[in-house]
Amino acid sequence: MKIMEQELLRLQNEARQQLELLAKDDTLSMAQQQLEDFRIRYLGRKGLFGTIMRELGTVSADERPRLGQLANTVKSEIEKLFAEKQAELCGNAGEKKGRGGIDISLPGRYPERGRLHPVTQIMNEVCSIFESLGFSVAEGPDVEHDHYNFEALNIPAHHPARDMHDTFYVSESILLRTHTSPMQARIMESQQPPLRVIAPGKVYRCDSDITHTPMFHQVEGFLVDTQVSFADLKGILTVFTQKMFDKELALRFRPSFFPFTEPSAEVDIACVICGGKGCRVCKQTGWLEILGAGMIDPEVFKMVGYDPEIYSGFAFGLGIERIAMLKYGINDIRLYYENDLRFLSQF
Ligand code: PHE
Repeated sequence: MKIMEQELLRLQNEARQQLELLAKDDTLSMAQQQLEDFRIRYLGRKGLFGTIMRELGTVSADERPRLGQLANTVKSEIEKLFAEKQAELCGNAGEKKGRGGIDISLPGRYPERGRLHPVTQIMNEVCSIFESLGFSVAEGPDVEHDHYNFEALNIPAHHPARDMHDTFYVSESILLRTHTSPMQARIMESQQPPLRVIAPGKVYRCDSDITHTPMFHQVEGFLVDTQVSFADLKGILTVFTQKMFDKELALRFRPSFFPFTEPSAEVDIACVICGGKGCRVCKQTGWLEILGAGMIDPEVFKMVGYDPEIYSGFAFGLGIERIAMLKYGINDIRLYYENDLRFLSQF
């Protein structure tokens, strides 16, 4: 039985050479594939080694023990070399599940999905509510002329109302807009009534604490036509707050002052947290302020060339961060801009 003995030794050599050929610089999956091919060819049930083992059954009884022992030695030698190669090429991945080094029990890795910032979400929601009421959307510049931010809104130089605005100036006549109201003047100056417009965007004020950030978002809205009354303003805002907060909320109009509206009001909604009974969020008043509004001042119409005897209109401006705070029960406005994923991923 010299032949079988030679065949076993030849197989051992061949297997060793094959394993040496497997290169380290292949990718993990290539190495895994090559190792698997090797395993099937030499060590698998139908592989070269298996064939020899089966032939052992046909050799004479006195040769069998010696050849059997040799076959076992060769087989474990090849298995040992195989395991070493596997560890070398696949590292731990090879050990975990043996064959091919793929641990199919490991969970997959999913790419994280992004989402819209809560402020953007509320902004989109506010815009689509007003769009459903027939308003069109207009956007204007963040860096604005003093003229549109103040003069055209009936706030001349040295008017005390300028103090409220904590303005960031770029130069003497250029500034970062302190509200979205300049869009009233910009649109009216270039278009004729009837108008129904909302203007969302960023605004800037030099102010920072738990309810103020130097940059925040507003949506301006205005409607100009013949015979527009305060009742129209109330109607539109009532529909808006109901849609925005998904329930019928009482509205309260408090007399206020803005140079570009007359009469002016600050509008409160019944507290969304306590329903009006009084709680920490509404400071026991039962009301939450959500926007400023009023009938557009005849002086503003005159400056854009509209005849105040013919046209009337209302305007309002609401703060997006404020609405989002009320809607989600957030008590510190600065959270929006810290980019903490634990906060942002809740929306
Ligand atoms: N622009 C005002 C503000 O930022 C809000 C406002 C807009 C008031 C329109 C009346 C009409 O405080």
